[in-house]
Amino acid sequence: MSDLEAQALGKTWFYPFRLPSGRTTPTYDGGALDLIHATRTQMLDSALNTEFSDARGGLSALDMACHQGWFSAHLAQSGFGSVTGVDARAEHVEDAGLIRDVLGLDHWQVVQSDIHDLTPAQAGIHDLVLCFGLIYHLENPVGALRVARSLCRRLCVVETQVVPGLTGWVDYGSYRFVRPLKGSFGIIDETGETHGPEASTTGICLVPSVEALVWIMQRIGFSRVEVLPVPDDGYEQLVHRKRVMVAGWV
Ligand SMILES: C[S@@+](CC[C@H](N)C(=O)[O-])C[C@H]1O[C@@H](n2cnc3c(N)ncnc32)[C@H](O)[C@@H]1O
Repeated sequence: MSDLEAQALGKTWFYPFRLPSGRTTPTYDGGALDLIHATRTQMLDSALNTEFSDARGGLSALDMACHQGWFSAHLAQSGFGSVTGVDARAEHVEDAGLIRDVLGLDHWQVVQSDIHDLTPAQAGIHDLVLCFGLIYHLENPVGALRVARSLCRRLCVVETQVVPGLTGWVDYGSYRFVRPLKGSFGIIDETGETHGPEASTTGICLVPSVEALVWIMQRIGFSRVEVLPVPDDGYEQLVHRKRVMVAGWV
């Protein structure tokens, strides 16, 4: 086992990375969250296998809010020629860099940035953009989705917690001007948890309903938007539509 691999095995991770020796990194809560990552990876692969051929060497992918790099590593290992992971937290960028080096994935780069600050000029435009586990931690999820769209050439996959949606009609200034609700947002308070590794950096979180997410993705420039199917034996939040994975095609 290399020194780098020993270093990786010496800490507890959010993700169960399989390392070159065959060992797996120990995860939080004795692996209680491993299934959410497995289900999301399975759902993502199913979408990627439909959209992209096996010849992916000429394709680039961007993983927004990559954390320790689970999905970046997966994309790099599944043939994408260039993968960029971005996260606001320095400790995640460092951890993702360690995993990249242990796995020898030189075509994966890790960048520290707030995702709202990314521009096509500096971050590039990518065949695949992932936005997993992120928008429900943001106070400006629509802005973040606009950034995702601006950096996407082909397919953007968004995975998020959702809230129950309100439907109905609103007297919009007057009973003479009545508008339909297109979806809703729930406000979640993470202001006391901004130090948490998976949390919001600002603490004010707007969580969309699935109707809101689909409608917004359509309005900001995705020509086709679909909620992706969930395996029956998947992680309970996805099976019961407390979280969703939504694909948007440019
Ligand atoms: C729940 S974790 C999800 C990580 C990973 N994408 C996944 O789905 O497993 C949320 C991640 O978003 C990052 N994050 C939160 N706000 C961010 C922002 N404004 N810009 C960049 N990263 C952010 C956090 O540091 C954390 O890594």
